[in-house]
Amino acid sequence: MEKSAAIRVMQVTPDWRPALLQLRVTAPQRDFVSDIAPSLDDAERCPGSTPMVILRNDEPIGYYRIEMHAASIAEREYDRPAVGLRSFFIDHRWQGQGLASRALAAAIDDLSTRHPHAQLLVLLVNCRNLAALRLYLRARFIDTGQLYHGGRAGPQHLLWRELP
Ligand SMILES: CC(C)(COP(=O)(O)OP(=O)(O)OC[C@H]1O[C@@H](n2cnc3c(N)ncnc32)[C@H](O)[C@@H]1OP(=O)(O)O)[C@@H](O)C(=O)NCCC(=O)NCCS
Repeated sequence: MEKSAAIRVMQVTPDWRPALLQLRVTAPQRDFVSDIAPSLDDAERCPGSTPMVILRNDEPIGYYRIEMHAASIAEREYDRPAVGLRSFFIDHRWQGQGLASRALAAAIDDLSTRHPHAQLLVLLVNCRNLAALRLYLRARFIDTGQLYHGGRAGPQHLLWRELP
C-alpha cells in the first residue's frame, strides 16, 4: 500500500475538467459507475450536487459527487440529516494501492466542513461490486439490509455511515 503520496479532495472547478475526462474505470466496472463526462454535466444541472476530484500529489486520480439531498440516492427519506455519496471511483491505473480507502477517509473528513450538520453519509453499491462493498465496510459503512432495484445494472445495497 502506498502511504507516502498526499491524498486530498477538492470541489471540481472548470480547470479540472480536461484532466478529469481522462479518468477511466475498467470495462466491467462501467456497470457500477457512470462515465465521468455525463456525471459532470449532470452535476452542473443539479444545484444540490457537488462534483469532487480526488488528488494524489495534486494529480487527479478519482472522482465522486456529494448529494446535499440524500433522498436523491435511493428515493427515500432519512430520519437524521443525511448527505449522499455517488459515482465514487479511482482511475484504473491507480487501483489496488489502498488509494480508495485513503480518498474515502479524506472525503468524510471534508464533509465535516462542507456539510457540518450532516449526521449520515448514504450510498448505493451494486450487489455484484465486491471490491466496493469491501471498501465501504472497511470504512465503517453499515449495510442497512435494504435493496434498491432502480439501478441500471441490477440490485444495489443501501449503505450508510455515521459522520464524525
Ligand atoms: C472500488 C474501487 C473504488 C476501489 O479502489 P482501490 O483504490 O482499488 O481500493 P483500495 O486499494 O483502497 O482497496 C480498498 C479495499 O477494497 C478491496 N479491493 C480492492 N479491489 C478489490 C477487488 N478487485 N476485489 C476484492 N476486493 C478488492 C481491497 O482489498 C481493500 O480491502 P482491504 O483493506 O480489506 O484489503 C475501485 O475498484 C473502483 O473505482 N471501481 C470502479 C467504480 C466503482 O465500483 N465505484 C463504487 C461505486 S458504488
